[in-house]
Amino acid sequence: MNGRKINYIRVSLTDRCNLRCIYCMPEEGISKKEHHEIIRHEDILKILKASAFLGIDKVRFTGGEPLIVKNIDRLIHEASRINGIEDIAITTNGILLNSMAGELKKAGLKRVNISLDSLKEDKFRKITRGGNIQDVLQAIEKCINLGIKPVKINSVLIKGINDDEISDLIRLTKELPVHVRFIELMPIGEGMNYYETGFISSDQVLSEQKELVPLNSNEGSTASLFKLPNSKGTVGFISPLSCKFCRNCNRIRLTSTGTIKPCLHSDTEYDLKKYLESEIGLISELKEIIYNKPAEHNLENDGKSSSKREMFEIGG
Ligand code: 5AD
Ligand code: SF4
Repeated sequence: MNGRKINYIRVSLTDRCNLRCIYCMPEEGISKKEHHEIIRHEDILKILKASAFLGIDKVRFTGGEPLIVKNIDRLIHEASRINGIEDIAITTNGILLNSMAGELKKAGLKRVNISLDSLKEDKFRKITRGGNIQDVLQAIEKCINLGIKPVKINSVLIKGINDDEISDLIRLTKELPVHVRFIELMPIGEGMNYYETGFISSDQVLSEQKELVPLNSNEGSTASLFKLPNSKGTVGFISPLSCKFCRNCNRIRLTSTGTIKPCLHSDTEYDLKKYLESEIGLISELKEIIYNKPAEHNLENDGKSSSKREMFEIGG
């Protein structure tokens, strides 16, 4: 296990999404999974219980888009009642969040990551193929007002598409208590179409952002952190390509079809469905998976992810 403590599980609730970001989903949409293939919430809760028994204390629900999933508030509520689960988060595109944030917080949601790749209405619409940025901006404001902490904003940078907005995105942290994190574009799925011409490394961005002051990053963090002087928020860089954080990776992933992916970029998956009827069986299988988590990915040499899944199936 390389001395890493695995204490974080990311759960993809669906491979569907109400947006079609150009680097993530094909325009025509995806071949949707059948309803019976998707893991039921009661089974997710069983897996979370077994995970908590093994020391996992942090859960993040992702998608596709997790907020289009029916009864997600109930799922969050049930998950928050599991002994040992301390922290529940979601990664969302924010389109539906404004109206749902209050209920989700009541249910036990602690933190949110909201994807936002552009601050311009028309460009946002282009990147997301139809999204309305006002929905997302209102959601961010709502989360701040509700006291959800932290509110993180994830931006995938692509040269020629949104690299002209880096300074504007950073400037958001000046007045708002938000944490903007720039994510390096990964050569996976639709991201392959932009990777060769569009990849920008975190180092390149940093060398042009001279005002940013480095902060100490937490252990287990996949981001390196900075801030502007006198700002309310922080700026982070998530650099899976240029600065591998595998050493710090403390997570496993549950896909929406009930398999565990120990590493985002490996095609190794373990099907948990056959263990769902036995709590002990589930715990011992999960223990084995956690113990055998690969040491690191090989993206920088392979030039592409070895994962056979798309980002919208894994949820980042
Ligand atoms: N590279 C980096 N991040 C990606 N995401 C989707 N596709 C890619 C890619 N090719 C991220 C989104 C969102 C999450 C669902 O996955 O920005 O945060
Ligand atoms: Fe949906 Fe997120 Fe993929 Fe955009 S990046 S299509 S919001 S899952």
